[in-house]
Amino acid sequence: MRILGIESSCDETAAAVVEDGRKILSSVIASQVEEHKLYGGVVPEIASRRHSEAICGVVREALEQSGCTLDQVDAIAVTYAPGLIGALLVGVNFAKGLSMSSGLPLVPVHHLRSHIAANYLSNPSLEPPFLCLVVSGGHTHLVSVESYTSLHVLGQTRDDAAGEAFDKAARAMGMPYPGGVHLDKLAEAGNPDAYRLPRPSVEGAPYDFSFSGLKTAVINLLHNASQKGATISTEDLAASFRKTAVDCLVRNTLRAAEDTSSRRIVIAGGVSANRLLRETLSQECAKRGWEFYRPELSLCGDNAAMVASQGYYEYQNGKKASCNLNACATMPIEVG
Ligand code: KG4
Ligand code: ZN
Repeated sequence: MRILGIESSCDETAAAVVEDGRKILSSVIASQVEEHKLYGGVVPEIASRRHSEAICGVVREALEQSGCTLDQVDAIAVTYAPGLIGALLVGVNFAKGLSMSSGLPLVPVHHLRSHIAANYLSNPSLEPPFLCLVVSGGHTHLVSVESYTSLHVLGQTRDDAAGEAFDKAARAMGMPYPGGVHLDKLAEAGNPDAYRLPRPSVEGAPYDFSFSGLKTAVINLLHNASQKGATISTEDLAASFRKTAVDCLVRNTLRAAEDTSSRRIVIAGGVSANRLLRETLSQECAKRGWEFYRPELSLCGDNAAMVASQGYYEYQNGKKASCNLNACATMPIEVG
């Protein structure tokens, strides 16, 4: 079964064709990041306009690259929640129009579920159940993935998402948006023990995260240094921040795995591209004899292949939308 996936939840317009949820026939991404960089973050109004301009060409190219015509596709899967509402609506309305004109079934897909599905594309043998740490720009969740379509949230961030904290700390250090990847690179050259930063935990909720205190500590440290005319090593600060954030993510993930007897650990979302997070969890899992899976780097960020993959499993489970489908800015992953 071939699924055409469409993604427009933030600042990437993407389309892809995937066979049986696992084999990528094509994957096209038009990124708007260069334009949002000028403003230091995503400007929702600009994002919606650029999606409208790009979507026809991106979908056409995905079909062409896959070697399929629309009548060789079996269903259309589209990201409908959560995300920027104006951005989501572009993909949802395009998919509805295409579904109505072609007669193909329309499958609504939750954005975080699709990030998890990026792992089905990168790891052919991976099947639920597993424990997944979902770390993106807008969300940080520890999820028990019981089946492809039955998910249960064990913990989540109480304030900033991990990616948001990476981006804000990077911005304070003078790096361009989105700073997570730049901070990650710079950290390779720094000493992770140079600066002591808080490692917040949430009392009584061992699987929940809190990153705003860590982000503020970095901002205050830079501010105090500039007032005193002291020099800060950006490499060392980047390395110290990355180590602290990764320690919090790894600590809660291992604790949840112990408590729920999960022996198969998966990471997903933009921050799963982080080198230290990938390395540390891989080593911790190896030490315990647990399985560890992560998406290949090209599938960590937003793309439509992951939407088509999750769409396949949702469709198998009977999920289908009518032409009344709406987009939602927020939606729990359990409901997805
Ligand atoms: O999943 P994603 O592409 O978009 C959302 O759904 O939010 O995640 C984007 C986030 C951004 O905050 C970006 O800075 C972060 O992922 N990110 C990273 C790295 N690569 C991307 N954060 C830390 N280290 C990285 N290597
Ligand atoms: Zn995302």
